Amino acid sequence: MASTSNTNTTQTLSCSSSMAVTSTSLASQLSIGLRPPYPKIDSLSSHSFSTNHSFFETVHSNLRLSLSPTKPSPSRPVVAMAGSGKFFVGGNWKCNGTKDSISKLVSDLNSAKLEPDVDVVVAPPFLYIDQVKNSLSERIEISAQNSWVGKGGAFTGEISVEQLKDLGCKWVILGHSERRHIIGENDEFIGKKAAYALSQGLGVIACIGELLEEREAGRTFDVCFQQLKAFADAVPSWDNIVIAYEPVWAIGTGKVATPEQAQEVHVAVRDWLKKNVSDEVASKTRIIYGGSVNSGNSAELAKKEDIDGFLVGGASLKGPEFATIVNSVTSKKVAA
Ligand code: PGA
Repeated sequence: MASTSNTNTTQTLSCSSSMAVTSTSLASQLSIGLRPPYPKIDSLSSHSFSTNHSFFETVHSNLRLSLSPTKPSPSRPVVAMAGSGKFFVGGNWKCNGTKDSISKLVSDLNSAKLEPDVDVVVAPPFLYIDQVKNSLSERIEISAQNSWVGKGGAFTGEISVEQLKDLGCKWVILGHSERRHIIGENDEFIGKKAAYALSQGLGVIACIGELLEEREAGRTFDVCFQQLKAFADAVPSWDNIVIAYEPVWAIGTGKVATPEQAQEVHVAVRDWLKKNVSDEVASKTRIIYGGSVNSGNSAELAKKEDIDGFLVGGASLKGPEFATIVNSVTSKKVAA
């Protein structure tokens, strides 16, 4: 799988006596240094974690329960780019496109020049996955936008992980805010989906992110940590997971998070992983940003130390623009 392939010269970057990570030659071009302490942006006095919900309760009910406080700790040394050392950019086409428009998009992507040290993934609507798989360059992997929670069978209208694999999908997006807030999927259901997809060998793009009112109420970290915990409680391993931080207020609104806003949540997420999963998972897991990313803002976002890539909606429907976003990895190299 591209996310873990490492065909370039491999070297171990020792970041501290207690932490060393393996990185590709790209990461070796990047700075190795201390991630700076991040400021508190939200009230950290309490954190909510959901524990028991029926599948289609609304997310609002997920946010009621409270458990003990968890404060992000000061930062620790890790490499500038986590995981395989590769940037990760996903294009989420959502419920858009026709056979013709998708054929044009695929042809634009096939002719785009993409930086080599980036894992590039697109998520077409289910109906067009086969068309895309049969026409898109193998340079770009295919993701589904959703999957059924268990083995396929008598589940009308659902798509199974087994079927996705049969078509050549390598990834699935789970926990997207549109599925949480429009369809009504809750944390527990999303966690189960992630566990099942991983058990069958699909990589998971695990989405988290707060609503505007949650940010304004100072609950950004609470919400993100609660959603993370649901994934952590369900999955046996983080080896094949990319976390996508997507503030709901930034999705499809044209109101992108500032690089600083994104960075402070990314570093808090990494810190949560360190405290609640392991040092190794914290330093290896890629955390990508999503929400109104476009060719005009991706370079500035990419410069931030804990932004390891993007999940792109609207701008991924235009091949050249998506390619520019993929290639914003170059600004990371310059910044390093
Ligand atoms: P957007 O969508 O880029 O159109 O804001 C991002 C997403 O939903 O993943």
